[in-house]
Amino acid sequence: MTDPATSTSGVEFGRAEARTAHNYHPLPVVVAHAEGAWMTDVDGSRFLDLLAGYSALNFGHSHPRLIETAHAQLDKLTLTSRAFVHDQFADFTAKLGDLCGKDLVLPMNTGAEAVETAIKVARKWGYQVKGVPADQAKIIVASGNFHGRTTTIVGFSDDEEARADFGPFAPGFTSVPYGDLEALEAAIDPTTVAVLIEPIQGEGGVVIPPKGYLRGIREACTRSNVLFAADEIQAGLGRTGTTFACDHEGVVPDIYVLGKALGGGVVPVSAIVADRDVLGVLKPGQHGSTFGGNALACAVGSTVVDMLATGDFQRRAAELSTMLRERLEAMVGHGVLAVRVRGLWAGVDIDPSVGSGREVCEKLMARGVLAKDTHGSTIRLAPPLVISEEDLAWGLDQLAAVVAGD
Ligand SMILES: Cc1ncc(COP(=O)(O)O)c(C=O)c1O
Repeated sequence: MTDPATSTSGVEFGRAEARTAHNYHPLPVVVAHAEGAWMTDVDGSRFLDLLAGYSALNFGHSHPRLIETAHAQLDKLTLTSRAFVHDQFADFTAKLGDLCGKDLVLPMNTGAEAVETAIKVARKWGYQVKGVPADQAKIIVASGNFHGRTTTIVGFSDDEEARADFGPFAPGFTSVPYGDLEALEAAIDPTTVAVLIEPIQGEGGVVIPPKGYLRGIREACTRSNVLFAADEIQAGLGRTGTTFACDHEGVVPDIYVLGKALGGGVVPVSAIVADRDVLGVLKPGQHGSTFGGNALACAVGSTVVDMLATGDFQRRAAELSTMLRERLEAMVGHGVLAVRVRGLWAGVDIDPSVGSGREVCEKLMARGVLAKDTHGSTIRLAPPLVISEEDLAWGLDQLAAVVAGD
């Protein structure tokens, strides 16, 4: 390890901390270069990336196809705003719509914007199509949710840290326990316009709902004329071994909410994707974003969709999942209390006697592995889907050693 006081990493880390709001608590590493599953810091130390930008880097760092696309597009056109149409727009929206099996795409930039877009569209659909009385629309969400950081979104979070002192919050949301289908069904009433759910809760610690939950939501929504909006921002686009996490139950939501990996780790790209009877409610002037659907984003997003359309990344996640599961399950009882695995994604609950999630991540960092804790004692593992079997095995060796107290 480099000396934090005198190394370039240490100095740069101090400079960064000195001039930024402390809304994050980063590990003390300063990355200068990255390729595939590996990052190199400013001192030349290498680290295996087991976070992959919270799944934004599903295709790894600097994937050659994505970098080539971005370079080529940079030389041609980057932004027109939606006031004019550019030549990357039609391809991107058509390809993404096809990947989702839906008619229409509305591109935005960040995940939170896509969630906000889904909320607006669901409400407008509720008033104009379902006939909900003005200003009565209700959206059902789940406990433990994480959908982003806007005031509306944190308003229906139950994470006090995310909410405290940011009120007053927007009304119109009812939270029910995640995984409890009966509670969700009981919350639906004639004013309900949508159920907004993560098919697997990522930030919550890779919480996988009981089998049948997503299918049950689909059926309840269809029965009651309610839109099912699946926030696949972290769970989708290959991470779980399928294109969407909803695929595990053969479920198609009314609105896919996408982000993170859609930008290939190169640019922020998010979108909502739905059929015409839903997304068609928006008319000019009712929603928008200066950068949403810009040419660079669409070019990169198109390549991302092309890459996903082969199924190779999904297959890779499914293949590596077996090893991830076996290795993690072997750690239960040896410094790990419980693990949850779906595809190349895992929540690992650390035995408090070993230390906090943060302490485990610091020890991992000292061994050349970067991971991130969530909710105190859980570590979320989301390696790039391009990681080699050997590198994944090595990374898990380091985790096994840390939780065993070595
Ligand atoms: C499920 C989910 N939805 C929404 C978001 C918000 O995305 P962004 O940080 O791009 O706004 C996240 C980010 O972690 C997420 O995991």
